[in-house]
Amino acid sequence: MRTDTGRTIHLADYRPTDFVLERVDLTFELDPTETKVEARLIFHRREGADLNAPLVLDGDELNMTGLLFDQIEMAPERYTETADSLTIRDLPESVPFEITVTTLINPEANTQLMGLYRSNGIYCTQCEAEGFRRITFFPDRPDVLAVYTVNIIADKDANPLLLSNGNFLGGAGYGPGKHFAAWFDPHPKPSYLFALVAGDLGVVEDTFVTMSEREVALKIYVEHGKEARAAYAMDALKRSMKWDEEVFGREYDLDIFMIVAVSDFNMGAMENKGLNIFNDKYVLADPETATDQDYANIEAIIAHEYFHNWTGNRITCRDWFQLCLKEGLTVYRDHEFSADQRSRAVKRIAEVRHLRSEQFPEDAGPLAHPVRPTKFREINNFYTTTVYEKGSEVTRMIATILGRDGFKKGMDLYFERHDGEAATVEDFVKSFEDANGRDLTQFSLWYHQAGTPQITVSSTYDAGAKTLSLSLEQMVPATPGQTAKEPMHIPLKFALIGENGSEASPAAVSGGEVTGDVLHLTERSQTFVFTGIGARPVVSLNRSFSAPVTLHFAQSKEDLAHIARHDSDLFARWQAITDLALPNLMAAAKAAAAGKAIECDAGLSDALLAIAADETLEAAFRAQALALPSESDIARELGSNNDPDAIYKGRQAILSAIATAGADTFRSLYDSLASGGSFTPDAASAGRRALRNAALGFLALSDKSPAGAAQAFAKADNMTDLAQALTVLAHRFPEAPETHAALAAFESRFASNALVLDKWFAIQATIPGEGSLERVMRLMQNPHFAASNPNRVRSLIGTFAFANATGFNRPDGKAYHFFAEEILAIDKRNPQLAARLLTALRSWRLLEPVRAEQAREALMTIERAAPQLSSDVADIVERILK
Ligand code: PHE
Ligand code: ZN
Repeated sequence: MRTDTGRTIHLADYRPTDFVLERVDLTFELDPTETKVEARLIFHRREGADLNAPLVLDGDELNMTGLLFDQIEMAPERYTETADSLTIRDLPESVPFEITVTTLINPEANTQLMGLYRSNGIYCTQCEAEGFRRITFFPDRPDVLAVYTVNIIADKDANPLLLSNGNFLGGAGYGPGKHFAAWFDPHPKPSYLFALVAGDLGVVEDTFVTMSEREVALKIYVEHGKEARAAYAMDALKRSMKWDEEVFGREYDLDIFMIVAVSDFNMGAMENKGLNIFNDKYVLADPETATDQDYANIEAIIAHEYFHNWTGNRITCRDWFQLCLKEGLTVYRDHEFSADQRSRAVKRIAEVRHLRSEQFPEDAGPLAHPVRPTKFREINNFYTTTVYEKGSEVTRMIATILGRDGFKKGMDLYFERHDGEAATVEDFVKSFEDANGRDLTQFSLWYHQAGTPQITVSSTYDAGAKTLSLSLEQMVPATPGQTAKEPMHIPLKFALIGENGSEASPAAVSGGEVTGDVLHLTERSQTFVFTGIGARPVVSLNRSFSAPVTLHFAQSKEDLAHIARHDSDLFARWQAITDLALPNLMAAAKAAAAGKAIECDAGLSDALLAIAADETLEAAFRAQALALPSESDIARELGSNNDPDAIYKGRQAILSAIATAGADTFRSLYDSLASGGSFTPDAASAGRRALRNAALGFLALSDKSPAGAAQAFAKADNMTDLAQALTVLAHRFPEAPETHAALAAFESRFASNALVLDKWFAIQATIPGEGSLERVMRLMQNPHFAASNPNRVRSLIGTFAFANATGFNRPDGKAYHFFAEEILAIDKRNPQLAARLLTALRSWRLLEPVRAEQAREALMTIERAAPQLSSDVADIVERILK
């Protein structure tokens, strides 16, 4: 395990390396416990660099068995080896030289899944961010780009497949029982994009003909017997390749593109050049085992990793502070792809739901950081929703400000200027400025200021003058290390909606810049005056969620209902429904906390039921409306002193009232939406299933017996319906014999399918209420529980901590203490996984005092375990407690 060095890295300290790496030749002799790695590195001193500067290479847990300088053993006085570096002195002033390092590494013992490790008998690598240094001594930073040749030697029977980046050069036998393969990647790349895979896998093959008529071989490698489950991923890959050509003009650049699915992986997937490695959760799908959400995730992540080939690989990051340069941009690209493949409005609603439930709390808590941070202690902890999702929103705002064509021009210039380089956020922004002649200085604050901007809005209509005044005031809250904030440039899409939904077009506007349907808020407070408005319109603001902000706009119920009914922007309609529901849910939580009766506004249930039954609306949209704000949405609105039990109780009471009022609607929806035909994973069919399953949830709320849900479980002919029926049974009737029978049937039917068992664990981990902790502890004793598999740990412990507010936040604090113990245990084998799970406690200060104190004590037990903590966990726990 890596122990904490306690060192903080600052963006301001960036400087280029003293040595330029020209070429890398790697030879791996694979062995489960003793793999030999020979790295031949050709360097020359950078022009202008200090002539006495030594070469400093990074290392982590390496056993160095040889070191040559220009093929001759290096004298011991010329180098110094420490736990994390190799320093070599007395190097040539200008001529190139060759360093050959030999290391021994142990893939089998690599439980942190960084560097070279084995998963189910498959050798694979994970090098982002700083994993390559666990393979050999190397200048392991993203601004060191080189061309790689890779030779792999391994037992032929156990490892018929030997893969690395780039194009296949050749292979042959290599002594008794062994063989080798050589790969060459002509595109200079940083070490974090290196990959190697070896083992025995099945393959699905296809081809793609690029826009310039080149044929690319496509291969997806999965465990034998699972080939059929990779068909959807292959389809998504081909659609992604086509889309990137059509929308961004980007063509693939090697003869072969490979994806390998592995079952032990810390993250979702990794964009290694030409050889993406995936968590198999985001590759494998068929109707029997995957839900509609799984299909949508696979489509998005296949696209995301493929799109990195240009935004990340061809143009990479100068340093890790620039992470959003590849991640925010690539998330934006995958969001646009999914929006084009599916329903744009429904996709946007799902994105905003995710942003609000994950990124907003991060931005409002102790882990808040700018999209482009300026310091970090552990880079692994900066793969955050702020860098990814808020980073994507920032890119989206550039597109909103510049318009479709302006955005395209800026992207084209970025590709033209920086292809083959390691770039910065400034380079990116400058491409848009130069291509459009627009100053984005103020806009760039979005990269530098953390915190979700809060905008207070009011409007007044003057019938005599026929003017509408819209006053806006922005405030960016203080965040760690940033107390005073500058006003930001916030692009707000808007419409002035008249009677019957017609949109008023003002004669003129003063008070600030308005371009088309975008209002540019740039001052701390600003009043826009629209003239020539004949009747009082309803203001629809931040349509399509054009800016990632929170609006405080006290609109009347009538105005919200008007938007919900008439806005031509479906996102805005959904937002209006949410804004109608939230006050009701908050009042319900407060009533529950005070032991008072909970009332559901009849207007709310009427509005929801009208939408549920409105066949002119797409089914997926109706399902989103029926989902209502989540418990965490309500907690966020309430702000502080949160009691998760009261929030849950209040929300359930509102749901029950809607269920009662809408019993007939839900019954007829459930019956009329029955699938009938064979399963297809397309968005429209998925939407119908989502609506039908939402109806099932409401029906179960009024049901006194589990019979209906049990029947839904028995009849389900796809995983979406099956998992939903099981969830409804488990949540609504946790102790019913029908529920136990269904859980047992599900477990035995899918006993050999790890990804489906993950769902089984997750469904039980979310059962609310008092017995939750005991249930989770019991499930850890289940023979299927595997502490070594990150997906399994996340599905049980992660789901419990992140998605079971009442169970996790029990007032006696027992679940927090259990969690702290688990974090310490997980940290010993996999620090990244432990640190990520630990962020579940990031909002502890917003809990009511009794729970908050328990959470703090649990966090302290983790902190007290230093110095045994990894830098990953030490960094998170200290920031959360600060
Ligand atoms: N770069 C990966 C992606 O977002 C994520 C990742 C980061 C994977 C670090 C592994 C390790 O596409
Ligand atoms: Zn990414």
